[in-house]
Amino acid sequence: MLAAAGLSSLQRVSHRPVCEADGGQYQEMGRYAFARSWGREDERLAALERQLDPVSQAAIGQLGLAAGWRCWEAGAGRGSMAAWLADQVTGSGSVLATDIDINGLSGLHQANITVARHDLEHEDVPAGEFGLIHARLVLEHLREPAAAVAKLASALRAGGWLVLEDADGLLFDAEPAEKAFAAITGPWQRAAQAAGWNPVCGRYLVTGLQQAGLGRVAGRAHRTYQPGGDAWLAARLGIERLHDRIQHEGASQADLDDAVAALNDQTRTIIGAPIVTAWGHRTS
Ligand SMILES: C[S@@+](CC[C@H](N)C(=O)[O-])C[C@H]1O[C@@H](n2cnc3c(N)ncnc32)[C@H](O)[C@@H]1O
Repeated sequence: MLAAAGLSSLQRVSHRPVCEADGGQYQEMGRYAFARSWGREDERLAALERQLDPVSQAAIGQLGLAAGWRCWEAGAGRGSMAAWLADQVTGSGSVLATDIDINGLSGLHQANITVARHDLEHEDVPAGEFGLIHARLVLEHLREPAAAVAKLASALRAGGWLVLEDADGLLFDAEPAEKAFAAITGPWQRAAQAAGWNPVCGRYLVTGLQQAGLGRVAGRAHRTYQPGGDAWLAARLGIERLHDRIQHEGASQADLDDAVAALNDQTRTIIGAPIVTAWGHRTS
């Protein structure tokens, strides 16, 4: 069943401040660990989009997305996936792009996109009977991901698809090998968890979709193999953002320096952390 909240109730809350300048690293409004008050957050999200959009688009493309579909991009970030969905569904379809912080969505201008502030943890889902709902790297930031999956599943129309994507461990590797990656993985994951981010949420997604009553549930993990350099900006910024906490959790400065240097090293192949894409279908 769809919850009663409609789009108008989403828009009504859009003047509530979400991020406050913190002068530090970890101000959390709505508990999100990576709020935009950090100066390079937009750059980090843009780098994530460049890295992951082709993966997400290939997965969604296989589900039959077509003109006329109504889609919801939840936790839309800077909105690249919402913009792509809007192109795919054309003017006969529509896309709702929501986020707890909609400052990153001001560049979305297609006529078939509606932007609204929405907190997936604390608000009802918008009415809409969506044919596709996509949430990438969002559940891993929520305190109760199961409740969010149930909410998202309830907003599907019969025949609609829910596609979820999250990291399954901060497991970077390299060829030739770089031992610093193994040395910082544990401290990085503990630092993430201390900041309210579950970096192994990806392994939960298939179970979560099943428990939400969806059918045809499956998933796969993607790891990027690419030379060091620009492609790894998101990872470098992710380490920079949590640097002090990662050190606090036991990583040495030398290991952090070596890991960042390896991510920049164009003579190495960097093997990225696994990102799980999982999907489920609402039959009735
Ligand atoms: C790592 S970013 C991913 C952004 C985008 N989905 C992407 O993959 O490019 C996580 C996003 O989730 C949003 N977010 C965090 N907590 C949220 C909540 N409770 N409700 C809605 N969005 C939330 C953040 O504001 C941020 O835009």
